[in-house]
Amino acid sequence: VKKKKMSSGCVLVTGGAGFVGTHSVIELINAGYSVVVVDNFVNASHESLKRVEEICGTKIPIFSVDLTDKQALADLFKKHKFTSVIHFAGLKAVGESCELPLLYYKVNIGGTTNLLEVMKENNVKNLIFSSSATVYGTPEYLPLDENHPTGGCTNPYGKTKYFIEEIMKDLCKSDPEWNIVILRYFNPVGAHKSGKIGEDPKGVPNNLMPYCAQVAVGKRKEINVYGNDYDTPDGTGVRDYIHVEDLAIGHVAAQKKIEECCGLKIYNLGTGQGYSVMDMINALSKAAGKPVPYKIAERRTGDIASCYSKPDLAAKELGWKATRGLDEMCEDLWRWQTMNPDGFNSNGPKS
Ligand code: WQD
Repeated sequence: VKKKKMSSGCVLVTGGAGFVGTHSVIELINAGYSVVVVDNFVNASHESLKRVEEICGTKIPIFSVDLTDKQALADLFKKHKFTSVIHFAGLKAVGESCELPLLYYKVNIGGTTNLLEVMKENNVKNLIFSSSATVYGTPEYLPLDENHPTGGCTNPYGKTKYFIEEIMKDLCKSDPEWNIVILRYFNPVGAHKSGKIGEDPKGVPNNLMPYCAQVAVGKRKEINVYGNDYDTPDGTGVRDYIHVEDLAIGHVAAQKKIEECCGLKIYNLGTGQGYSVMDMINALSKAAGKPVPYKIAERRTGDIASCYSKPDLAAKELGWKATRGLDEMCEDLWRWQTMNPDGFNSNGPKS
């Protein structure tokens, strides 16, 4: 099928008010794209996008739409001519997904099939999908490359990511006009250099680094280290932590790949470097200039010992590599946390 060159037109970003979404919107605008954001604001605040507009010095069209409302989504596609979509929107709490599997299947898979149908109906067939290394399940080998088997994930959240990847593979097989880049994130951490935006989980953070930052700033008593008897150098879990700004830049590189009419492509977005829980606690205490209290607790159900990427394919085919190291991840996280002790509910960043 002869594919025409795509102009760098308007990009629809679903879930654009979220942690990775906001940082990616900034990099897309920096790269010259015009962006429209859609979000249901269940897990994100309007304040985050106000700050993105401040950082970029531009207004961003924002629509409060839930992807499970197909008609509202169809109406949006009537108003705008999108040349591609970056799809972040979805629920992402592993524990919650075990309690509410139906909600996760409805929102993550139902929302995605609505989006794909509306895109097809409007002949918009360029998509970047926010997937996760969790689709690899328990690694059979490390570092993980994109050929590693998928589908071994045990929790509903991880399964939604796997099922959505399979839906997209079948869609591309059925219609070669689709260009889909699936990005498997490892562990996004850090925050924008300005300290104006960052990860702002509701309630008790599930993920390690937001929890660490809240302990360091005195909002929580201590970190529970979920097990120190894993088969890793110091017994605590090893993960591939990647700066959210590196991750965001990876989405611009993926958009450029889409413009080459690439068909279906799958890339790991990681650094290739694993760090343990203790490495992360020590790195954050260095950035904070004070010890971060912790205690060794029971393992968390479903956790794996080690997970880190082989990021070579993205380097080769996207010309993208993570450049920000552990100190920078923690310095930027610390700046966000101290300037916004209550996240986006803080009344504006403190100087
Ligand atoms: C990291 C390490 C824990 C919290 C999950 C999803 C993935 C992605 C990121 C959503 C592990 C340990 C954690 C704590 C701890 N998705 N830990 N105490 O589990 O690697 O990945 O979140 O955003 O798809 O699977 O990330 O940050 O929860 O855990 O000791 O209070 O920190 O055991 O070794 P995870 P995490």
